[in-house]
Amino acid sequence: MPGKEENSVKKLYAQFGYEATLPPRSYYIPFADKEEWNEDRTQSSRFMSLCGNWKIRAYKSPEAAEAADFLANEPEKDIVVPSCVQYYGLDYFQYTNVNYPIPFDPPYVPTENPTYHYSRRFNVKKSGSQYILFEGVDSCFYLYVNDKYVGFSQISHRVSEFDISEYIVDGENKLDVLVLKWCAGTYFEDQDKWRFTGIFRDVYLLTRPQQHIVDYKIETKADGEVTFRLMEGISALVTFEGMTKSVRQGETIAFKVSDPHLWSAETPYLYDMDITANGEFIREKVGIREITIKDGVFLLNNMPIKLRGVNRHDFHPQKGAAVSLDDIMTDLKLMKQLNVNAIRTSHYPSCPQFYHLCDKYGFYVLDEADLETHGCVCGELNRPEGYIAQQPEYEYAMVERQKMLVTRDKNRACVIIWSMGNECGWGRNFYACSAFIKSSDSTRPVHYERVTAKHYDGKRNKYVPNFEDMYTAPVDFTSRMYASPEFMATDYLNDEKDTRPFVQCEYSHAMGNGPGDLKDYWDVIYSSDRFTGGFIWEWADHGVKYKDNGFMYGGDFGEYLHDGNFCIDGMVSADRKIKAGTMQIKYYYQPLRFEREKDTIVITNKNFFKTEMGELDINETKQSICIPPRSSISIKTHERNLCVRYSVDNNEVAHAQFTEEKQIQIEFDPVEITTEQKGHLLNVTAGKNNYAIDIQSGEIEKITVNGQVYGRIKLNLWRAPIDNDMFIKHKWNVQFLKYARPYVREYKITDKVISFNIIVAADSLKPIMKAKIKYTFLNSSVGIATEYEQTDTTKFEFLPRIGFCIKLDKSFNKLKYNAYGDDETYADMYEYAIKGAYESTVNEQYKNYVKPQECGSHYLPEYAEVSNGKNNIRVEGMRSFSCLPYSTETLETTMHDYELPESDGTYLCADYFMSGLGTNACGELPYEKYRTPSKGEGVITFVFGKETNK
Ligand code: GAL
Ligand code: MG
Repeated sequence: MPGKEENSVKKLYAQFGYEATLPPRSYYIPFADKEEWNEDRTQSSRFMSLCGNWKIRAYKSPEAAEAADFLANEPEKDIVVPSCVQYYGLDYFQYTNVNYPIPFDPPYVPTENPTYHYSRRFNVKKSGSQYILFEGVDSCFYLYVNDKYVGFSQISHRVSEFDISEYIVDGENKLDVLVLKWCAGTYFEDQDKWRFTGIFRDVYLLTRPQQHIVDYKIETKADGEVTFRLMEGISALVTFEGMTKSVRQGETIAFKVSDPHLWSAETPYLYDMDITANGEFIREKVGIREITIKDGVFLLNNMPIKLRGVNRHDFHPQKGAAVSLDDIMTDLKLMKQLNVNAIRTSHYPSCPQFYHLCDKYGFYVLDEADLETHGCVCGELNRPEGYIAQQPEYEYAMVERQKMLVTRDKNRACVIIWSMGNECGWGRNFYACSAFIKSSDSTRPVHYERVTAKHYDGKRNKYVPNFEDMYTAPVDFTSRMYASPEFMATDYLNDEKDTRPFVQCEYSHAMGNGPGDLKDYWDVIYSSDRFTGGFIWEWADHGVKYKDNGFMYGGDFGEYLHDGNFCIDGMVSADRKIKAGTMQIKYYYQPLRFEREKDTIVITNKNFFKTEMGELDINETKQSICIPPRSSISIKTHERNLCVRYSVDNNEVAHAQFTEEKQIQIEFDPVEITTEQKGHLLNVTAGKNNYAIDIQSGEIEKITVNGQVYGRIKLNLWRAPIDNDMFIKHKWNVQFLKYARPYVREYKITDKVISFNIIVAADSLKPIMKAKIKYTFLNSSVGIATEYEQTDTTKFEFLPRIGFCIKLDKSFNKLKYNAYGDDETYADMYEYAIKGAYESTVNEQYKNYVKPQECGSHYLPEYAEVSNGKNNIRVEGMRSFSCLPYSTETLETTMHDYELPESDGTYLCADYFMSGLGTNACGELPYEKYRTPSKGEGVITFVFGKETNK
């Protein structure tokens, strides 16, 4: 047994350094020779995976592990590496966004610091130099081989490499790793995510000759020049396009490809570069491409490309941050199908193999350093976000994080922008960070969004034109998150001092039902080459599936500090299912533009490099098309109503619809009525039906049709708040909007019409609205004409909706409608959908959002009809409707989709207007044009029976 002294856990975790880690280098895997080479690294005879079955034991702290003589005390619980310990019933789940999960006392961390002793054995032959590599450990670890301490590393998303040659023996070896939940690095890793712990990425051994190459840099130019610089290691032979050259440490060799196939996300062409040295063979896949910024425009191969991006975290509902290569492939395939061409690795580097896949399949990557100090702003700390960025003592730790990023990923074509991190405010240390990046790589621009945050004044996206560093900060992009399209089109474009290209590193907060701002953004983004595009926040929900529950979020594990369902904000669900918002994004990310000019359809290929070749389907007539990049074709057609779809290999890539909006004119030739008043009810006989109208509220309380009785038709101003209503709902709640009810001031009865003047008010508050409601009747139907006006528009900005809602027996479960569908559509999220006639069931109308909310509405309907097989009810005249198995109240008060009770009826709601979705959880409120107008009028008709007004 080694002496205790040797194995004592040094206090390195409270400092910003490492012990015995090798300097970072570019990622590559050596093989024996060309024949052995394989895309799959596990096929290399020099590679030995140490993933798989390990044993684990939990301790309360590193000191407790030490006291228990952990090395001599073999753990017994099984764990599969890579993984997050939380899924093994160890540690606790906690989701926090901005708040630090520990007291803010850098660089110290709590002494109660969950500590995990991992252990396994492996067999190997001692040979040459042997290295162990950890691709990701959260948050830091101590390494022991054969009971001897080797070293220590931190920075969760870096690759840590140790030379363990002298520790290894022939045959069986013992490997022990002590992983700590917190360390000094925790203060730099305050990203909005679940705070997972463990060895969450691959671990492997590389066996190499004692002398080998260490690091090199490949650079390319659009004219076909490819250079290889051997930064460190023994001389090597490099073969590229049939030419072999030798290179020594410190030397740069150049190759020239005439008429090169340039790499882009659209045309991900890769050349083989073979490097051999001392019995090792390394194949680099080289994408030839060049990045420049000219006249404030970001150019790839001289083209002002648009990034149709998403922010991607490592997340899997049953594995947390421990995503496999297959999981990554699933994401990339789905992104391709959804026309995504760019990924921001928010907010840390992905695993090294991710970039190889992006090179191969074609994605632009904004590669981000593992750095965020957002929590400085929280609670009592009340420090600027840039507190850490401003203190000289943290400069080293911040620059190290850039080093891990750039050094590792520098040879990947897909990486087109370096990002220094996220949400660390602004401060002196970023000058050092940027200087480091620029001195190690002059071929890519540097991005960092929080350049203005020193003057953060609580108003989101507030532009600070006189900000001292704004124009001089060492960043190459003007980057914003959630800045409005107006800001882009006016403040930014008109700012003559701003000479940088513009990117939205985050926009369109896709939380819950939404996002509802795509059209407005992309109209602006396509208006100028200065706009490089943006990255949706975010790719997938972070809903945890643990034990038998459905998706869980912050607070579901009893943690007191958490951020609720703010982690459920993906354009796809945690299990990668799509929602309406997903398809809206796909639509605005599609590579073709369709325009109608009289009798022609003009189709433009918006790509910069790739010819679109596929099948065009116009009203079910198919033809092949081929459109070179940046050009258009015209197709003649005389049909007025057109549905155009473009597919490649049977996958729909793009579509458009041209319809003539039908103005629904409801001709009313009312029948005569007889009325009789009984208490507060006015009994009305009209045609075949009988109505009891409540003269206190002006609402129809009861309808009798052939002995069948229907319930109240209620005035409806409320919706179950969507996630993007999270701020405005407080204003709505202060006004008791959901409790506001109609009160009749006066009413009038004629032989055909009953009209009410009402106010709408909640107890104790002034009326919020005045309205005139006028009932007219046909044989089987009642038309409700409403003219309304809000009395005060300042208190709550706008109403969620205005319309009428009727609760029906749940036997009414079949639905037919003609509207934008078949999925849900809203005033600011409908272009993706096809307007047409659909059939559905009421249950299918409910959409599973992790936190139930307003869903299933359809925009611009001509009619909707719900039936129970015997009777049906039809509504017409509304601008939006929904027919759901739950009330707004049930949706609002249920915290998880999996907790929804059994349906107690069918709720048919017809709206004069339903407010749009917007993306206010992070962005602006929905634009004026999408809000329920403060004043309006309309006629909604409820038809009971078979009669229609057509
Ligand atoms: C941004 C942040 C993201 C995420 C998002 C809200 O401010 O950069 O990490 O927290 O807000 O979902
Ligand atoms: Mg943050």
